[in-house]
Amino acid sequence: MIKRPDCSSDFPDRVTLFEVGARDGLQNESSLPTQTKVDFINLLSLSGLKHIEAGSFVSAKRVPQMADSLNVMRAIERQDNITYSALTPNIQGFEMALSAQADEVAIFGSASEGFSQHNINCSIAESLKRFEPVMALAQLHNIPVRGYLSCVIDCPYDGSTDTTQVLEVARTLIDMGCYEVSLGDTIGTGTPLKVAKLIETIQNHIPSNQIAVHFHNTWGQALPNIYQALSMGIRTIDASVAGLGGCPYAPGASGNVATEDVVYLCQQLGIETGLELEKIALAGWMISDALNISPRSNVSQALRAKRLQ
Ligand code: HMG
Ligand code: MG
Repeated sequence: MIKRPDCSSDFPDRVTLFEVGARDGLQNESSLPTQTKVDFINLLSLSGLKHIEAGSFVSAKRVPQMADSLNVMRAIERQDNITYSALTPNIQGFEMALSAQADEVAIFGSASEGFSQHNINCSIAESLKRFEPVMALAQLHNIPVRGYLSCVIDCPYDGSTDTTQVLEVARTLIDMGCYEVSLGDTIGTGTPLKVAKLIETIQNHIPSNQIAVHFHNTWGQALPNIYQALSMGIRTIDASVAGLGGCPYAPGASGNVATEDVVYLCQQLGIETGLELEKIALAGWMISDALNISPRSNVSQALRAKRLQ
């Protein structure tokens, strides 16, 4: 831990960036050809990332953009030191992930009932029951499981989320065997003070090395929230290159914080990410061009403008 001169907090020396652009990003953008996704993930794999979420095994009717995840994961050029993971809401999804040779899977629940119903069509309690056989199968196959927890600050259907409810579901996910819980500010309404209060509560019960943060940038607060989380010793940050995406069942929610912006922030704080900014930006330009959008990352745009000078 490094003690910064300008504040009393403990920042980590290095962080892990968990790249969700090919899943959380692309699940909420226009559908792309399978080969474009494969090329995108192959580019991401050259940037220094160690964790790439490559797809999602959910209902193709509900999220058509992810319907080709099996073909995507079978076609990518895997690097030995990278974990390629996928979302698996139930046994059906887990079996698909197995045949896609996912190195890791993720179950995803919600801290609010409204989002749980809209997103995965069941209550929180039912979802936890559904995850049990997934956990058992994952253990049998020796596959690590990550746990996502949505709406940790606010829910688009139920309003503000009670922190004790977040803690309860987060603890359950960890007790079930998830190696880490990713706290999702699904609609991006979090601000540093709310985030500090939440993380403090969670850290009293779950070790920091089992907590990741997942900020959507709807209200432009993702970077300050990440700064806050880093100052409290959080060492895993979810991010989406070019700020892609959102959640189809969280109306109005925009993409995750852009990976490029997080890398730049960490560089400036002296925190090692292992990523090469130019290479991650390149992947962002490639996918933004394919989607015919501008990267939703100030750092990416600044880098591109600098290149053109
Ligand atoms: P269900 O709606 O309860 O119904 O599914 P079901 O189990 O009876 O299945 C309905 C249909 O889906 C059936 O097909 C099943 O075969 C099929 P039909 O007979 O109608 O043709 N099905 C599946 N197909 C493929 N893979 C599967 C699968 N399971 C069932 N695994 C389910 C429950 C969760 C599958 C469904 O509600 C669903 O797919 N929801 C979409 C959830 C989703 O992908 N949301 C976005 C990701 S979560 C997120 O973005 C938040 C996060 O980023 C964190 C944050 O920001 O907060 C992680
Ligand atoms: Mg998300």
